[in-house]
Amino acid sequence: MTNKTWFITGTSSGFGRQLTEQLLARGDRVAATVRNAAAVDSLAAEYGSRLWRAELDVTDTTRIREVVEQAFTDLGHIDIVVSNAGYGLLGAAEELSDDQIDRQIATNLTGSIQLARAVIPHLRAQGGGRIIQLSSMGGQIALPALSLYHATKWGIEGFWESTAGEIAPFGIAVTLVEPGGARTEFAGTSADIAKPMPEYADHAPGLLRRMLAGEVPALPNPGDPAKIAAAIITSADQDEAPKRLTLGSDAYELVTAGLRERLTALEAAKDLAYSTDADDFTEARTNEN
Ligand SMILES: NC(=O)c1ccc[n+]([C@@H]2O[C@H](COP(=O)([O-])OP(=O)(O)OC[C@H]3O[C@@H](n4cnc5c(N)ncnc54)[C@H](OP(=O)(O)O)[C@@H]3O)[C@@H](O)[C@H]2O)c1
Repeated sequence: MTNKTWFITGTSSGFGRQLTEQLLARGDRVAATVRNAAAVDSLAAEYGSRLWRAELDVTDTTRIREVVEQAFTDLGHIDIVVSNAGYGLLGAAEELSDDQIDRQIATNLTGSIQLARAVIPHLRAQGGGRIIQLSSMGGQIALPALSLYHATKWGIEGFWESTAGEIAPFGIAVTLVEPGGARTEFAGTSADIAKPMPEYADHAPGLLRRMLAGEVPALPNPGDPAKIAAAIITSADQDEAPKRLTLGSDAYELVTAGLRERLTALEAAKDLAYSTDADDFTEARTNEN
């Protein structure tokens, strides 16, 4: 296997950090972006020029374009782009401040969309490549108290469902990664928590806040970030990019149950769906059969 060159956002901790460490250890080159360059000092010391780094806050669209341009100029060819930077916002919809909502969307959704728009021309010009988008099981199912997080992850799933078809003819393949709960900084220092309203204290938002504060037992958090990073790397080594990587027993079970429930409800409403077609369309369809 020949060594590859990767571009990864959010490499200070969690999945981004694990990916960067594992890739450098196996001999690949990594363009690692971080909000604070010092976060990857130790990797720069260990791996020298195989680590290219730049400071990037993905809410800054102009800076995304500058960093992407510089990375392709310096590295020549980038095989795989990982859109990883993101965090969770916790609270009932009416508890969230406007700023919290704007920042969540700017980071997880707009940041990922603008990164895609910045890298696609380069991948197209070089004849192809791979884009790996960190979504979540929360891009397929939704739990109370995480509405804006889900809005960003369902949003990015919709973006890629459409865009993947546009760029496939240019040899660019897309994989959506949908982990379940995993032991990164996601539920720790990275989490943004809304100012509580007393009305929600005894409901899901209050309970989740108490879990994060360690006051009551937390939800199972099975995902091992090192194994998740390894699964992502293995997927990128396959010739055919998987459309989705659902990782973690919780993700598998919740997504399976969620999809089954939706399909069952949809099928139960088939007659209603067909009943709203125009009469001439129904007549033509009946004549065809
Ligand atoms: N862990 C889970 O349970 C889980 C499950 C499903 C999906 N995910 C997704 O996995 C991705 C990575 O999260 P993680 O679990 O590895 O959490 P993490 O340990 O908190 O890592 C998040 C990374 O994103 C960076 N980041 C946050 N906001 C940023 C911004 N505005 N600009 C640039 N970088 C920014 C952080 O950098 P700083 O150090 O500068 O904050 C950090 O490097 C996210 O997209 C998350 O939604 C996580």
